[in-house]
Amino acid sequence: MKIIPARRLRGRVNVPGDKSITHRAALLAALARGRSRITNFSSSADCASTLHCLAQLGVAVEREGSVVRVEGAGAAEGGGTTFRVPSVALDCGNSGTTMRLLAGVLAGQPFTSTLTGDASLSSRPMRRVTGPVELMGARVKTEEGHAPLVVEGRQPLTAIDYETPVASAQVKSCVLLAGLFAEGRTRVTEAHALTRDHTERMLRWFGAHIETGHATRDDGATVHVASVEGMRGFAARDFHVPGDISSAAFLTAAAALLPGSELLIEGVGLNPTRTRFLDTLIMLGADARVEDEHDVCNEPVGTLRVRGARDEAEPLDRGKPALPLRGPDIAQLIDELPVLAVVGTQIEGGLEIREAGELRVKESDRIRTTVENLRAMGAEVEEYEDGLKVHGRARLRGARLDAHGDHRIAMAFAVAALLADGETEIVGAEECVAVSFPEFFHLLESVTER
Ligand code: S3P
Repeated sequence: MKIIPARRLRGRVNVPGDKSITHRAALLAALARGRSRITNFSSSADCASTLHCLAQLGVAVEREGSVVRVEGAGAAEGGGTTFRVPSVALDCGNSGTTMRLLAGVLAGQPFTSTLTGDASLSSRPMRRVTGPVELMGARVKTEEGHAPLVVEGRQPLTAIDYETPVASAQVKSCVLLAGLFAEGRTRVTEAHALTRDHTERMLRWFGAHIETGHATRDDGATVHVASVEGMRGFAARDFHVPGDISSAAFLTAAAALLPGSELLIEGVGLNPTRTRFLDTLIMLGADARVEDEHDVCNEPVGTLRVRGARDEAEPLDRGKPALPLRGPDIAQLIDELPVLAVVGTQIEGGLEIREAGELRVKESDRIRTTVENLRAMGAEVEEYEDGLKVHGRARLRGARLDAHGDHRIAMAFAVAALLADGETEIVGAEECVAVSFPEFFHLLESVTER
């Protein structure tokens, strides 16, 4: 993919349905009793992997573009399912969310099944989900903590009280989904940070017995607790997926940085556990605002209006010291950190990301791949084990980059390419954006003025 610099972005766009939310809608519809219709279903390859795995479990799925009908496998009595024992391994492709959430569901089934993935997914850590489901009574064989996972399920599982050792919505969701097949109430505590809470919101939408809240510990720390009562079952319900704010983030960053831009992104999800990127841009001085905010199926949705920097000579942050990003912020910014690092090159003080070691176990080692590509474009960057530091006000130059098979690296550096001098080539970009946002380059081109 070759990208030439842009003058500004102008227009009105809709981003495809949210990937995280779509996975959950497909899974919960599959566990419900009856037929659910999901609209604005994500066009991502990752969510297609989830649907494909569900079909292998005997769930009847019909898809017409962004409308998906799911005939739920919820058993008529109690909370079991009528899943078919899969005859082949379930292929999760590149999708960590598919594998980790399905591991929870399959832990609670009375049969053995296997989850596989591509080379990148097979190198990502899975003990974080196999650990808790084993505590609940399932058995999981792994390749030293990696996929393929052979999940020997049990029904019912034993309810547990679990504190997540890493801030991860996938781990929390895995345990809550397994909890649907446990006798009693399964509780998940998040002590590091509240991660995206789509699973909790959607369980409530479907009428599952979910409770959420927070508590203060003796040391003054606030912890977030979600719990679910198992073996109760729930009925099908239609669901509309909001636009993906993590996909919108790339367009938002480009519009905020290019003077004279004006971009309207409609119908985008605004769940507060996902909007930290927007807050950060606004804190840096970007003109980004939310209009017409309202709830759709228990998720806040609205229109995002982003205007470009007023003047090329005036950076967004106007000379503040390096912006430190660490601690609980990291969990709520996790997917946006590569593009934020690109933003960091354009602000006076630059930006420092720490306590973000999780980035090393994403679709690529995102600390390494971000640092490598930023350096290739002429930015001054320091790499740490748990993050990176970007020096501000860099004049980026076009370069030949590698997407490293990682969709968010491809899109973050497409944004960098728009800001650079000269042409940039990103090897493998077109193939890998399909993982979350197949329309990305087309949509970007449709709003780019040169
Ligand atoms: C996701 C959770 C996050 C995120 C991923 C999607 C989810 O991963 O990075 O893109 O849908 O629950 P972790 O749970 O590993 O932080």
